[in-house]
Amino acid sequence: MGIRFDSVTVAYDGNVVLDALDLTVEPGEVMALLGPSGSGKTTALRAVAGFVRPVAGRVLLGGRDVTDLPPYRRGIGMVVQSYALFPHLRVDQNVAFGLRARKVPKGEIRQRVAEAMEMTGMAGHARRHPRELSGGQQQRVAIARALAIRPDVMLLDEPLSALDAQLRSGMLAELARLHRELPDLSMLYVTHDQVEALTLADRIAVMDKARLQACGTPRQLYRAPANEFTASFVGNANLLPVTVGPAGVGFAATELKVDTGEAAAGARATLCVRPHLVGLGEGPNRLTGTVTEIQWRGATHRLYVEVDGHSVMADVRELKDPPAHGATVSLHFAAEDAVLLPAGVSHG
Ligand SMILES: Nc1ncnc2c1ncn2[C@@H]1O[C@H](COP(=O)(O)OP(=O)(O)OP(=O)(O)O)[C@@H](O)[C@H]1O
Ligand SMILES: [Mg+2]
Repeated sequence: MGIRFDSVTVAYDGNVVLDALDLTVEPGEVMALLGPSGSGKTTALRAVAGFVRPVAGRVLLGGRDVTDLPPYRRGIGMVVQSYALFPHLRVDQNVAFGLRARKVPKGEIRQRVAEAMEMTGMAGHARRHPRELSGGQQQRVAIARALAIRPDVMLLDEPLSALDAQLRSGMLAELARLHRELPDLSMLYVTHDQVEALTLADRIAVMDKARLQACGTPRQLYRAPANEFTASFVGNANLLPVTVGPAGVGFAATELKVDTGEAAAGARATLCVRPHLVGLGEGPNRLTGTVTEIQWRGATHRLYVEVDGHSVMADVRELKDPPAHGATVSLHFAAEDAVLLPAGVSHG
């Protein structure tokens, strides 16, 4: 079942924290809500769940306006960062909770609890209490509890952020598997971890300052971000302040040949080039500067090169013989690997 935000605005004490959000999650789609702290991600989720009432706009589930429905009538499963399990209840009782509240017959509760625990790999721990489980296991129970009600829509609010990195990547793979097993389930997944968003989501909605900044597939946002914020929030980005010229752009004293599209000559703009698309050595669109830092990252070296007062990052395959600090080097990139964005904060 799809989710639609139709110009949803939420305010606390007159303070707008979600500003006319328009966003559609298709049936069966995983949409990640990505953005910095305070950007309104949890608020958007709470508006879908019914825990906060919009001051304007409508929330639709499966085409039906649910703005005035109480949370328990919306058919939603929700998982939050802190698990929020009942400590005095056993695992199976926690998983059964939503079904009991909905007065589902006993026999069916037993069956659905077993099914949800099987799906999340918790079948062997039915009689334990939450305190007898690891963080990852507790989060599985929380997911099982949300699944047991057979929701049409799952809302996940940073479900993995309390777990360590290794567990997180394991759980990420499990969530992807769950979604393959339940292909009709729509998921709205809040995170501020771009790896989670890139791995799991069909599309990503990028939020900043109560507003939707961009929405698209991970590839679209990475390859052709609409603005500086999206470029730097989804992946790493070199954002070079440039001036549009007749056959490319000017970056400080350097002329770069890139596609300027519709941009008018003389206009200020920002050139976005991903660090892994910047090469070391001679090539087209050459930038010459001084190495200010070199980081060894296992398979790659990250070079920071100061070019006309701007730091440019290059991620290159591990160098046998990396340049020294202060060395003068040339960087280059292909015209098709650069994207011209509207001028933004990079112009200072
Ligand atoms: N109950 C509340 N009363 C007043 N202000 C609130 C309330 N809940 C959230 N806010 C404010 O709304 C804004 C958005 O909060 P929200 O929780 O949606 O952010 P978020 O994107 O989920 O951030 P985080 O990544 O830190 O969880 C924040 O400025 C926050 O302080
Ligand atoms: Mg939040």
